[in-house]
Amino acid sequence: MQSEPAIFDRVEMCLVGHPAIDDAHREFDLLLQSMVAAEEAGLGAALDAMLNHAEAHFALEEELMARHDFPARECHAAEHGRVLASIREVSALLREGDADVVRELAQALADWFPGHSDYMDASVANWITKKTAGGAPIVLRRPAARLAPTAQHPTTERLDCVTVALESP
Ligand SMILES: [Fe+2]
Ligand SMILES: [Fe+2]
Repeated sequence: MQSEPAIFDRVEMCLVGHPAIDDAHREFDLLLQSMVAAEEAGLGAALDAMLNHAEAHFALEEELMARHDFPARECHAAEHGRVLASIREVSALLREGDADVVRELAQALADWFPGHSDYMDASVANWITKKTAGGAPIVLRRPAARLAPTAQHPTTERLDCVTVALESP
């Protein structure tokens, strides 16, 4: 039976070929590691850092989608909004003394991110690259980090938006 790769092996699979989005994805991964590694006294700072990052990360992608007239941007932005709402909700729970919920959020974000990146963010990168350069982006990944479909992320169960069909260049 093929074992699931460790959470942080997945960052290579979350690169989509758009430099600014990929920078955001690397930062997301680092902040997620910080959330997981944080001692209880540091959870608030780690969570605040993730919230600040997520606001900027999602705003970047939403600005790119608007600027390049990406068709499925409302659906994509709605998913961003749900994630931000969850992070803010966990911030409120942490202030009430519930530290475990931050650990649960970190795992939920780790479970959510590869599918979101591979489907929604990669579609944006493809769209922009096709509009600006006439082709799809090429992403080079280390083979060891290849992500197989898992029980949490079967490739057919993470889609809740209409697929953006790209014409051949
Ligand atoms: Fe992203
Ligand atoms: Fe996104």
